[in-house]
Amino acid sequence: MTGLKVLATGRYTPAKIMTNEDFVGVVETSDEWITARTGIKERRYCEWETNTDLALAASRQAIERAGIDPADIGAVIVATFTPDHGCPVTACLLQRGLRLSTNVIAFDMNAGCTGFLFALDTAYSYLLRRVKPYALVVGSEYMTRVTNFEDRSTCVLFGDGAGAAVVGLADGGMYYSVTGAEGNEDYIYVQGPAEERVYIKMDGNPVFRFATGVIPRCVDSLLEQSGLALDDIDWFVCHQANKRIIDHVRKKLGVPEEKFYCNIERFGNTSAASIPIALDELNTGGRIKPGQRVMFLGFGGGLTWGGALIEW
Ligand code: ACO
Repeated sequence: MTGLKVLATGRYTPAKIMTNEDFVGVVETSDEWITARTGIKERRYCEWETNTDLALAASRQAIERAGIDPADIGAVIVATFTPDHGCPVTACLLQRGLRLSTNVIAFDMNAGCTGFLFALDTAYSYLLRRVKPYALVVGSEYMTRVTNFEDRSTCVLFGDGAGAAVVGLADGGMYYSVTGAEGNEDYIYVQGPAEERVYIKMDGNPVFRFATGVIPRCVDSLLEQSGLALDDIDWFVCHQANKRIIDHVRKKLGVPEEKFYCNIERFGNTSAASIPIALDELNTGGRIKPGQRVMFLGFGGGLTWGGALIEW
């Protein structure tokens, strides 16, 4: 089959660190509560950076590492729900900032925390037209822009950052995907431009149940499509929303801990950026080996969910 290959990855996370202790006194919370309920110890916050800055830095790194001619990038898709502007969108600013060809399709995609996987799937469809060989897929979030620092049930969860991947087709390679959406404003809600300013609202318990139910279904779908068994998968890169969600899913599936990459303790939930940031850490850490199978799993506001399976 025609698969999808990741040529290179990049990431950018701001230097400013907000630890659990930093929240004590700001809201009624403790390091113990946050660690036990979420697995998060610290997260990164933008200071001078904009969302476009995050996306640019991660993308620049990915393109440099890919060693390709930027003119060969035909699609730029930025998954974000915290862009700097309604217009121009982040992807267009990346076209300019990265000096990409103007003969490009460039747009932002808002699918909550699942955005990177929807973007990957869209990039794959674009690449199959074989107009240009590469696509730049980015997840970039300025979560503190929508964070209510008086709401202890959400403010401790989120962080800012971006991850990027340069992708192309791999003849004889692998690409399977699953995507889903179900309209729901009760569990996760963020205001739009026509609405009065409100910050992110989340009903954590139903989101937890939704996530732990839908991820195994995504895994099943990808295994069924590919004809592979769970043991054939070398890495699971799951959206980093809560360590307990990841552990719950991992145990339900019976997958060893070392196969489920987890970095939530250092970055919190960076929404659409969490999967590409995790992927870049795995990649640059030299842990993924050629030929290994990597399964991505995501879920989030919308509600949305998705999965993808590729060969490295
Ligand atoms: N510190 C101390 N206590 C807290 C805090 C805090 N930061 N936040 C909530 N509590 C309290 C609650 O008020 C509640 O107190 P009560 O029993 O007196 O009412 C108690 O802790 C338990 O609250 P729960 O909400 O039941 O805690 P839970 O164990 O479910 O953890 C959490 C909450 C972490 C939000 C969890 O439900 C979760 O991670 N859900 C999934 C979130 C997610 O995955 N989001 C991803 C999508 S986000 C996106 O798309 C942008």
